[in-house]
Amino acid sequence: MELQTERLLLRDYTLDDSAAVHSFASDVRIAEYVEWGPNTADDTREFLELCVAAQRGAIRTNFTLAVTLPSGDPFGSVGLAVDRDRGELGYVIDADHWGRGYATEAAASLLRFGKETLRLRDITATCRPENSASARVLEKIGMLQVGLRRADKLIRGQWRDSLVFSAVSTSDNTGPAQRDRAGSRGTRSHEPSTNIPSGPPAARREPSFE
Ligand SMILES: CC(C)(COP(=O)(O)OP(=O)(O)OC[C@H]1O[C@@H](n2cnc3c(N)ncnc32)[C@H](O)[C@@H]1OP(=O)(O)O)[C@@H](O)C(=O)NCCC(=O)NCCS
Repeated sequence: MELQTERLLLRDYTLDDSAAVHSFASDVRIAEYVEWGPNTADDTREFLELCVAAQRGAIRTNFTLAVTLPSGDPFGSVGLAVDRDRGELGYVIDADHWGRGYATEAAASLLRFGKETLRLRDITATCRPENSASARVLEKIGMLQVGLRRADKLIRGQWRDSLVFSAVSTSDNTGPAQRDRAGSRGTRSHEPSTNIPSGPPAARREPSFE
C-alpha cells in the first residue's frame, strides 16, 4: 500500500528498512512522551516483522506506513490501527526532521484514507498534554480535543495523562458494507479481531499507536 502527499511517499515497510527505522527509533529524543522506545535492535526487528505480517493478513486491521521522501529511506512512521468502525492514529518523525510539517502531512493523508477509503466512523489519537508538537499536529489536521484521560499511560514508571482527539464522521455512509466495498478496491476491510501492533517502532500487541 502507498499513499502520496505533496512531498512524501507513505509506503508499507519491508524488513530491509531495519537500519533506517532503528536510527530514529533508538533516539532518546523521540521517546519522551510515548510508551515505546528508545528501541533496542530486537524491538525494531520485531516491529518490522509485525508490520509485514499485518500487510499479509487476510483482513488488514493495521496500516503502519514508512514516511519517506520519494526514493529515500524512512525517516518516520505513521499508522492507523483499526477496530471495527474506529481507528487510532499515531506518528513519529526522526528528530532531525522535526518542524518541517512532515508529521502533519503524513497524518493528514492517513486520516483521509481512514475516513474516505475505510469509511471509519471515528478516528482518535492521544498525546500527553506536555507534547505540544503532537497536539498541534492533531489540531492542524482538523481533529478536535474531546477529552482528558487521567493517569492513562504508564511511561517509564510514571502514570501520565492523555489528551484525546477525535475526528468523527457524521454522515451515514460509514459501516461494514461500505468498508467491504473499500476492501474490494484493493484495501481490505477490517473486522474486530487481532490487535496487530501499530505504529511506531516498538512492537506492541495493542491498537494504541503510542
Ligand atoms: C510530534 C512529532 C511527530 C511532530 O513532528 P513534526 O514533523 O515536527 O511536526 P510538524 O512539523 O508537522 O508540526 C509540528 C507543529 O508543532 C509545533 N511545535 C513544535 N514544537 C512545539 C512546542 N514545543 N510547543 C508548541 N508547538 C510546537 C510546530 O511549530 C508545528 O506547528 P505550526 O506549523 O503551527 O508551527 C515529533 O515531534 C515526534 O516524532 N515526536 C516524538 C514521537 C511522538 O511524540 N509522537 C506522537 C505521539 S502522541
